[in-house]
Amino acid sequence: MSDLKHLFDRNRQWSERIRRDDPDFFNRLSHLQEPEYLWIGCSDSRVPANQIAGLLPGEVFVHRNIANQVVHSDLNCLSVLQFAIDALHVKHILVVGHYGCGGVKAAQQDQRLGLVDNWLRHIQDVKHKHARHLAGITDEPRAIDRLCELNVIEQVLNVCQTTVVQDAWNRGQDLTIHGWIYGLSDGLVRDLSISIDAPARVQAGYASALRALDAD
Ligand code: CO
Repeated sequence: MSDLKHLFDRNRQWSERIRRDDPDFFNRLSHLQEPEYLWIGCSDSRVPANQIAGLLPGEVFVHRNIANQVVHSDLNCLSVLQFAIDALHVKHILVVGHYGCGGVKAAQQDQRLGLVDNWLRHIQDVKHKHARHLAGITDEPRAIDRLCELNVIEQVLNVCQTTVVQDAWNRGQDLTIHGWIYGLSDGLVRDLSISIDAPARVQAGYASALRALDAD
């Protein structure tokens, strides 16, 4: 006997609630998904894509991993990107970090947590790349939050540099990559002023987002 019965109960209630408002909802979705958005976010249980953006099933394609990273050799993430762009034709890719990210904090503080340290090594690379900027922030929680912001901007750049995105732009596909950050303490998403929709705008968009952080 499952001791997770409460989850099945909640699932049934959820399904009934949705069908009460829209009896054909699940039937319609079972034939087709047409999401406009791909969300690349952190695995953190407090940062659920659909709820935060107020989106229903079918409205957002989601990839989550620890500290919302887009690593050039990560076949999982690259496959999600490729399918979302080539098959689903999403129009927007949202790279969404969050303040107080445990993965980013571990990287900032050189914590040893186990196997995951190797995954977080990429965040340490971001930390070293922006060492001068971060050195100017003496308050530790503030420095971690800044690294969370820098990480989003770096991951937006990584998305833009993938062959999948470059190919989509080169064939004229309508596709914009955005960098957002979510606040655990207020439930609000902030725009990090980076939205890139063409190869020629990648470097300028990246540089201007970094300048906006510098001025902050
Ligand atoms: Co996180």
